[in-house]
Amino acid sequence: MRFIICGAGGLGSVIGGMLARAGEDVTLVGRARHMDAIKANGLRISGIYGDFVVRENLSCVTHPRDAVGEFDLMILLTKAKDTETALSEAQAIRDRVRMVCSFQNGVGKEERLREWAGHDKVIGASTIEGGVLLEPGHTMAGLTTPTTAYFGELDGGITPRIEQVVAAFQKAGFGTRAVADIRQVLWEKLMQIGTASGWSVSTLGLPLTFPDGLEVREGAVNYIALARDFLKVYKAMGYEPQNFYAPMGQFREFDSLPLDQAVDLMMTVGARFRERAKASGETEGRTSMHQDLHRRRRMEVDVILKPYLDQAAELGIDVPVLEYVYGVAKVQDSVLAD
Ligand SMILES: NC(=O)c1ccc[n+]([C@@H]2O[C@H](COP(=O)([O-])OP(=O)(O)OC[C@H]3O[C@@H](n4cnc5c(N)ncnc54)[C@H](OP(=O)(O)O)[C@@H]3O)[C@@H](O)[C@H]2O)c1
Repeated sequence: MRFIICGAGGLGSVIGGMLARAGEDVTLVGRARHMDAIKANGLRISGIYGDFVVRENLSCVTHPRDAVGEFDLMILLTKAKDTETALSEAQAIRDRVRMVCSFQNGVGKEERLREWAGHDKVIGASTIEGGVLLEPGHTMAGLTTPTTAYFGELDGGITPRIEQVVAAFQKAGFGTRAVADIRQVLWEKLMQIGTASGWSVSTLGLPLTFPDGLEVREGAVNYIALARDFLKVYKAMGYEPQNFYAPMGQFREFDSLPLDQAVDLMMTVGARFRERAKASGETEGRTSMHQDLHRRRRMEVDVILKPYLDQAAELGIDVPVLEYVYGVAKVQDSVLAD
């Protein structure tokens, strides 16, 4: 298949690099320093998949107008704040793409893509895969789970085009599944990333990493308290937790276990995370939003935390922990640069 990734930074480079390594044809659209470094020396991927350089099947451009030919799938992977500019630039390829999706966090991005590309071209997609750009030409893959990506039709169901994309991702080494209700995956992923990111930004502050905060019991208690506010809303929307990205974010257990046991479980997840990070040489151990705080860049606070607050308001549900965490994140975000 032919892929074009608009916004090839930390995650887009991991996904694009792994697809290219598996023989898919990939065009990355990214910043000049990163694209030039890849053109000169190949794309280095380190972390959980090993340490290697991808040179074959990769084209690099800084603007979609320079991308050549037709594409089966365009993946939008800028941060949310850059979506409009990226889509405006991608007008140049809009008629040359067969399908469009986004792995950005959040809900609502698919509706924006439908306005941009037309209703039928857009498919639903979600991933927990993690990537951080360490330097131009070098990205680090930091997180995966046994099933790390999901695709599905936005109006429900699984079609041959969804199966084709799933097969390409499987071949690239990403455990991937087609699902009939991709919107549930998107909401549950937002609950998971919202809990992890909101907790990180409010509990860890700048220097600490994810496992640091879970080694302290009170930290894990905070984590479960926030997860349970998200769960109240998710369940009121008619969903039951499915643990799409187990063993990360075990929301079924957070929902059903007594508090003490749920806290124990989260402390175990933290310890496992620490072991994996040590084994892969990964040192950062932060969610994408916490990474932004660490690097003093604007965070995706309204994309990641606000949709659940809006749903809570609409459904008349009290979410005091989520409201508090949102307030902390907004204060932090107000002093960060774009
Ligand atoms: N990273 C993860 O682990 C992860 C996991 C799951 C989901 N996500 C989601 O995936 C999205 C991307 O995250 P990320 O961490 O990969 O972000 P990132 O490292 O900042 O990557 C985005 C890249 O796109 C570039 N860019 C922005 N506008 C562009 C444009 N018009 N043309 C070309 N390049 C452009 C950015 O450059 P500048 O930095 O110069 O702006 C940056 O290099 C976010 O919505 C995030 O929530 C991330």
